[in-house]
Amino acid sequence: MILPILTDADFIKLYEFVREYFGINLEKKRTLVEARLTFFISQRGFHSFSEYLHVVTSNPQGDECTAMLNRLSTNYTFFFRESPALYVTAKTLLPEFVDKGVKKLHIWDAACASGEEAYSLAMVLAQTPLVRLGIVDFSIFGTDINTELLAKARRGIYDGQQLAMIPPEYHKYIRSLGKEVRICRELSNKIKWQYENLMNTTYNSIWDIIFCRNVMFYFKSATREQIVAKLYKSLRPGGYLILGSTENVDLERRLFEHLEPTIYRKPLC
Ligand SMILES: C[S@@+](CC[C@H](N)C(=O)[O-])C[C@H]1O[C@@H](n2cnc3c(N)ncnc32)[C@H](O)[C@@H]1O
Repeated sequence: MILPILTDADFIKLYEFVREYFGINLEKKRTLVEARLTFFISQRGFHSFSEYLHVVTSNPQGDECTAMLNRLSTNYTFFFRESPALYVTAKTLLPEFVDKGVKKLHIWDAACASGEEAYSLAMVLAQTPLVRLGIVDFSIFGTDINTELLAKARRGIYDGQQLAMIPPEYHKYIRSLGKEVRICRELSNKIKWQYENLMNTTYNSIWDIIFCRNVMFYFKSATREQIVAKLYKSLRPGGYLILGSTENVDLERRLFEHLEPTIYRKPLC
């Protein structure tokens, strides 16, 4: 089998397209792009990258482009990653919303990958007395551009070894399936999963809390600023934006009140 060669011109076309439509900056990732796409595109019947890129770039919403993003996006995530923000959400933010009379918390997990982050948050919230006593409820909206990861999140089935990342007090939310484990319905019913591209999603001011962690470091700083400004618009006044620990953008310090290392509050007025 003769494998297609990634020329300089094809590579530039590919990374500029991915950056423009999805924010991801692959400019310094040529080896990764070649490793993940060369055999993949020849298996899909393409003889050259230019033929492939013609199909991908002519329809950013099409199946071929989605399949490419599934190959190229970085999906590293795990249960209870950067867990301090999860506990602050449950112990500090949730009671604050209850004091303000909120009966149901609407949370958006933007760039949720395969769902571990959203399920971890759901476990921590479900365990609080406020939720257990029915004083407040919550729903989580998990979104990503990787459709394979979203399918995994929707199934809620994970390798049993991942249980080691989940503190024992939350194991009651997990059912054993032999070598795999499944998230119980009580939690999975609270989460909806959907394809959303952070670059062009509709930003409505409906969220109490937005988690957007470990995705913006793949973006150029101008793109990060645009997205932070849109996330700001998506929050209700008094709502919270929670970023990853390595994702500082100057803009969030100007727009938001900075509460904890990764937690920002949209001012009330
Ligand atoms: C490293 S994972 C982070 C997952 C989780 N938030 C965490 O902190 O563990 C980054 C995710 O961002 C997603 N992503 C990248 N660009 C995106 C975009 N433009 N819109 C939505 N999701 C995007 C990727 O598909 C991937 O699932």
